[in-house]
Amino acid sequence: MSEKPVINYGLEGIYVDESAISKVDGQNGKLWYRGYSIENLAEQSNFEEISYLLLNGNLPTNNQYEEFVEKLKERRDLPKEVKEVIKVMAPVSHPMDVMRTATSMLVMYDKDPNNRESGATMYKVVTLLAKLPTIAAATGRFREGKDYISPDHSLGHSANFLYMLTGKKPNEFESKLIDLMFILHAEHSTNASTFSVLVTASTLADVYSATTSGIGTLKGSLHGGADEAALNMMNAIGDPNNTEKYIEEALEGKQRIMGFGHRVYKTYDPRAKLVRSYLEESLTKEPLDEVKRLLQIVLRAEKLMIDKLGKTKGIWPNIDFFAGPLYRVLGIDSQMFTPIFVASRMAGWGSHVVEYWHNNKLVRPVEWYTGSIDLPYVPMNKR
Ligand code: ACO
Repeated sequence: MSEKPVINYGLEGIYVDESAISKVDGQNGKLWYRGYSIENLAEQSNFEEISYLLLNGNLPTNNQYEEFVEKLKERRDLPKEVKEVIKVMAPVSHPMDVMRTATSMLVMYDKDPNNRESGATMYKVVTLLAKLPTIAAATGRFREGKDYISPDHSLGHSANFLYMLTGKKPNEFESKLIDLMFILHAEHSTNASTFSVLVTASTLADVYSATTSGIGTLKGSLHGGADEAALNMMNAIGDPNNTEKYIEEALEGKQRIMGFGHRVYKTYDPRAKLVRSYLEESLTKEPLDEVKRLLQIVLRAEKLMIDKLGKTKGIWPNIDFFAGPLYRVLGIDSQMFTPIFVASRMAGWGSHVVEYWHNNKLVRPVEWYTGSIDLPYVPMNKR
């Protein structure tokens, strides 16, 4: 029998491709989209522009930008049947399950779903980018028994999402916050959901199938679902004075503290730093008591975790630790956090599909077999 090879569990540290889309520097806590630092983009750009950048590889000219924004606006609304299915599912299923199903349905409205030419692929990706926030908002409305709100073309991409979800047009600060979250979640190299999208795309399946794979993968609490799980943990802590006791006990019980740790970042996640700073700024704007309480928990948990695990094991806060409290500033329910992640990450997923299909290779790793071989087959009546 041959010798057992080195196995990289969870593909840790394995390079599976080359990519020019984003760079994550896990040692120094840096992130670039197409060469532009996340700090600069968060401060100076907006989601529509960074989506164009990720998909096309360059910042748009004024005309390119206007044309792209117009395409997104034109395609925001949902077909009647998709709204009906969301309405049936939303009161009984988690919003991520609704997102996955509604996204899958969109293939019905594409006359040429299997066309993988670059123009056709881009059309599908931009269509999904336009419609995913509407699917998320409709899910949020229907699960609370409220009516669907049609897109408002006077609003930008993320502000329109917030309006369709809450029924209230966001002010300047609220628009900035939701756009920040869209920008920061848009792309992050070969994370689990992007890899899942690429595995599906690598079989030459269509963009809708690949996106549906991504949504299913993002749902889990070790990945995109961590934002909801982290807020649930903060609510379980309840009183800020309970923070240290809760975390100490959880760690003793070998539980994971949601919103901490990352496969690549072994220092502070730069996206988490940005969300943290805007969360602190929100305290200057008549915050809800709930947000004040959450921020106290966040700061106490952060200090304890960095002292205990940051310096020793490289476990630092990730973006999901601060995302929930920031969404609560905007009044967004915790089950809607990960659907927002989907709407935003579509920009990254789509960019990776476009790039991967330039030089497609079926993803098919190998595993080391540990079972038996050549067992004698025993008929059922003799077992
Ligand atoms: N709380 C407590 N301990 C942790 C945490 C955490 N959040 N994260 C890692 N550890 C510990 C593990 O228990 C393990 O300890 P051990 O060596 O004593 O057994 C060690 O750190 C290494 O953990 P692994 O799971 O092997 O490391 P991996 O790189 O696979 O973990 C992961 C990455 C899954 C994100 C992990 O840090 C985690 O579970 N975090 C909580 C969930 C979370 O916040 N996910 C969001 C990530 S960001 C994103 O996807 C958008």
